[in-house]
Amino acid sequence: MPRHAAVHVDLDAVAHNVATLAGLVAPAELCVVVKADGYGHGAEDVAATALAAGADRLAVALVEEGQELRDVGFDAPVLVLSQPPADAMADAFAATLTPTVDTAAGIDAAARAADGAAWPVHLKVDTGMHRVGCTPADALGLARRVLDRGLALEGVFTHLAVADEPDRPETDEQLACFDRVLASLVADGIDPGVRHAANSAGLLLHDAARMDMVRVGIATYGVAPSSDLHIDVDIRPAMTVTAEVSHVRSVDAGEGVSYGLRHRFDRSARLAVVPLGYADGVPRRLGELSADVLIGGVRRPIRGVVTMDQLVVEVTDGPEVAVGDEVVLIGRQGDQEVTVDEWAKLLGTISYEILCGFGPRLPRRHLRRVSHAAGDAGTRS
Ligand SMILES: Cc1ncc(COP(=O)(O)O)c(C=O)c1O
Repeated sequence: MPRHAAVHVDLDAVAHNVATLAGLVAPAELCVVVKADGYGHGAEDVAATALAAGADRLAVALVEEGQELRDVGFDAPVLVLSQPPADAMADAFAATLTPTVDTAAGIDAAARAADGAAWPVHLKVDTGMHRVGCTPADALGLARRVLDRGLALEGVFTHLAVADEPDRPETDEQLACFDRVLASLVADGIDPGVRHAANSAGLLLHDAARMDMVRVGIATYGVAPSSDLHIDVDIRPAMTVTAEVSHVRSVDAGEGVSYGLRHRFDRSARLAVVPLGYADGVPRRLGELSADVLIGGVRRPIRGVVTMDQLVVEVTDGPEVAVGDEVVLIGRQGDQEVTVDEWAKLLGTISYEILCGFGPRLPRRHLRRVSHAAGDAGTRS
């Protein structure tokens, strides 16, 4: 029995976004970030679509994510965005992934795994985000170590901490620091290879960050890096989340709904039950915030807390609602739209967390009106 709730992914929107972004950054390379199952969109389908639409490379967070892409036949370069644990280096090498390195121990582990092969690696430099990456002072020594150990230094990169806040000075400071690191390598006779710094916000808001390659995640999926940001580039949201009304019922004035009976109706009300809950990625608090869903082309508020598998919507006003009617949680219905940014703002979080939150229990339905088949054939062995 198919579930009466699903995540729909518009691959034509992904293709459009990738082609738009690739055109914008050319001649820089476009590396599409498909970690966390393609930000919840399905890594395989996104990867195939992105490569067919002009992406040059893919990036993941984990060796396992890269292995999954190899297992289904992708042969494009796959960058692992952080240094893999030492005991994962052999798997990364076997899968011909491109690891990030940022410590002497990591470089040595990569060299052991490569066993004499000139395995391409990228050196990550922390220019101010202070999460991972070597210090700027250590970069030259580590780049030299990569070469001394017989590895190939294919790229050097950094990651921007506030690129989505265009008025802050730290992005320019990070880029200036990165430039100094690159210059120190060149002065020492080391070719840094592919230099990269930009995520989606870097690419969209800081021309100087584009360099030789950009690593684009959220914009691939048609979502702005920050809810407050107006992006002047034509990208289209790829994800729609829908369900079908499972029950319709009436309650009297004064009754409450859902766990805690926290929402009480001050009039008799009509309710529609929607078979999807926080175990699917609809945050429990959305109900207390009276977030809207769309039914019959009209906005309807969620009432009471979202439960693990179901939520309740008030449908007292507006057109009659029946069992089986389509409910749009994220996406368009008629001339109305609920965006991930709307949820992110209500919940005080970011769109990334909402997208990644839609769990594996929800089936993914990939829609493709335009064929990307020629590209698929070229990207899988
Ligand atoms: C190192 C690195 N580069 C690029 C990205 C892509 O970022 P965005 O989704 O903002 O484009 C990420 C995502 O977190 C990342 O960790």
